Amino acid sequence: MRINLGIIGPGNIASIISKELINLPEINLYAVASRSLERAESFSKVHGFKKAYGSYEKLLKDENVDLVYIATPHSHHYEHMMLCLSYNKNIICEKAFTLNQKEAEKVLSVAKQKHIFVTEAMCTAYQPSQKALKNMLPLIGEIKSCNLIFGVPLMHVERVVRKELGGGALLDLGVYPLYFTFSTFGKDFEIVDASIKLYEDIDEEVKLALLYKNGIKVNMQISVSQNLGYYCNIIGSKGRIYIENFGMPKEIIIFDTNDNLIKIENNFQNGYKYEFLASINALKNNQVETKEMPHQDTLFLMGLIDKIKEYKD
Ligand SMILES: NC(=O)c1ccc[n+]([C@@H]2O[C@H](COP(=O)([O-])OP(=O)(O)OC[C@H]3O[C@@H](n4cnc5c(N)ncnc54)[C@H](OP(=O)(O)O)[C@@H]3O)[C@@H](O)[C@H]2O)c1
Repeated sequence: MRINLGIIGPGNIASIISKELINLPEINLYAVASRSLERAESFSKVHGFKKAYGSYEKLLKDENVDLVYIATPHSHHYEHMMLCLSYNKNIICEKAFTLNQKEAEKVLSVAKQKHIFVTEAMCTAYQPSQKALKNMLPLIGEIKSCNLIFGVPLMHVERVVRKELGGGALLDLGVYPLYFTFSTFGKDFEIVDASIKLYEDIDEEVKLALLYKNGIKVNMQISVSQNLGYYCNIIGSKGRIYIENFGMPKEIIIFDTNDNLIKIENNFQNGYKYEFLASINALKNNQVETKEMPHQDTLFLMGLIDKIKEYKD
């Protein structure tokens, strides 16, 4: 099955993803839409799309578009997904899926009602490395704790610092350590501590402590103002697992309790293509979600972010 892909919001990530998808036989880079025809035409020329539209609605009116990739700022995901659904278009929407759980519920309820495919482009969920990690966990014995760090100086990026564009650390970066945590260890935890440093009205830095019913302790620090790195350590009774770039890693490293290197797993062919291939597979099977990132995971993630945001007050 070869599908015609339409992109709305030809910015940063749309460009990175188009470069990867151009090599996939399953996808035809068909149409791109921008609020400006000039931008759409220039993007389409660079990435080899067949059609360029100067409005999102024009792309949605094109009956040949099979799947729409929404790559606008998260402030607009709700509006753009609702617009896609009004044209009965299948959707793969960038993270953060929406601004809050309520918006996500509304989108997914309309999608379910109309039996239209929607998925969140949460890249981690689709990576071969995430499956491999689950198989590697027993090598470090009983899991005791996990520390996750994700800090990138992004205060110069407009959509990250402006509240009306969905700014803040939780929605931009926090989705990754939060998703990684519940995807790896499950959902049976509570928030025991959270602190949020504000810059004007956005969450600039967030520190979080979670406690699982089975005793696993998770600590994370997320920042859009400091370069803290992007890594995690999972500590077990027989060693630890260290992963850089844990959202889409190149390697997973295991050490014993004396910090001797035990194993490096680095044969992953990670990439953004998997979320699109999974979407095509779901469409082929007339499903409204992917098994990798089911709607309940999107709703859980958005609900968790809502809960953490309550610690602002
Ligand atoms: N999966 C990942 O690894 C990853 C990485 C980076 C970003 N993202 C996510 O992808 C989304 C887009 O991020 P980005 O960095 O690509 O953003 P960006 O470069 O700022 O591009 C966003 C595009 O959205 C369109 N847009 C529509 N309404 C807008 C508005 N009111 N203000 C600004 N732009 C508007 C613009 O296109 P036109 O004006 O031309 O229509 C713009 O080019 C975000 O939700 C982000 O979290 C995901």
